[in-house]
Amino acid sequence: MRSDIEGAALDVTRAHWFGDHHVSCSLVQIYVDPRCASLDERIQLSFGTREVTAEEVNALNYEPGARLPLEPWRPLSANERSLLISKHVPPTRERSVVLSRIPALSKNAREAVIGGESGAVREEIVRPLTEICEFDEPLHVIGLSHRARGLKTATIDNLSGKYAGLHIDSWDDHDDHDIALREQATNRISLNAGESHRYFLFLPVTFADMHRILGTDAQPERYQSLKYLERNFMANFPELPVVRCKLLPGDCYIAPTENVVHDGSTEDGEGLDLQFVVRGFINLKARQGG
Ligand SMILES: [Fe+2]
Repeated sequence: MRSDIEGAALDVTRAHWFGDHHVSCSLVQIYVDPRCASLDERIQLSFGTREVTAEEVNALNYEPGARLPLEPWRPLSANERSLLISKHVPPTRERSVVLSRIPALSKNAREAVIGGESGAVREEIVRPLTEICEFDEPLHVIGLSHRARGLKTATIDNLSGKYAGLHIDSWDDHDDHDIALREQATNRISLNAGESHRYFLFLPVTFADMHRILGTDAQPERYQSLKYLERNFMANFPELPVVRCKLLPGDCYIAPTENVVHDGSTEDGEGLDLQFVVRGFINLKARQGG
């Protein structure tokens, strides 16, 4: 299967993702809202992706074939920064990631939110988020969830019950054979409501571009499910870096998780991990005076 897909696509794209040469697709753009603290290590890149080891499958409950970032993490070069970081909110929701923030929850507020205290989620989370974002229907409030600390990737596949590794979401009612519809899918906002930082990981190439670059041999039915298409892409282009965005308590990201391969990570945070998630058509509001 691999030999069918290699060839012309590899000739034009391999090793040129962030180079000065021909880039065969528009990379996903990142916008960091000035509301966020300035951090040198806010955004980092991996050296690519890799398949999980047998030990990770057996001892850490990963799906066989799952893919993880190839470490170590490194800073962006000036060229990579110019290609990936946008100075303005990108106009295309389906191929942009936005980082923003609301005030971090106090210990008391977090306890009230976790305890389901009436009004706490609305006052401490929803109201501040509506001050910085526009939420268009259909909205689906997934709500609060938490993960163990120390996870390189945090998502457990509902069907397999195992860690999925880097993946694409399918919350929308997609026709799997209509890749273009993913450009119109809902996005999500995820707020770090926990006690310390967590990460958002993503590949800076959209699903539709992955499908196009793999070529006509990459029809979804050939891989039985979309999971195989995104894993196949990463296996064929293992040098494509994963972008890692650090989210301090109170930071949130808005991302097209139905169109971009991604995961969360709690790898080196401390204390309680907690996130609050809403799906919908979500955009960052322009800041007053800027
Ligand atoms: Fe996901």
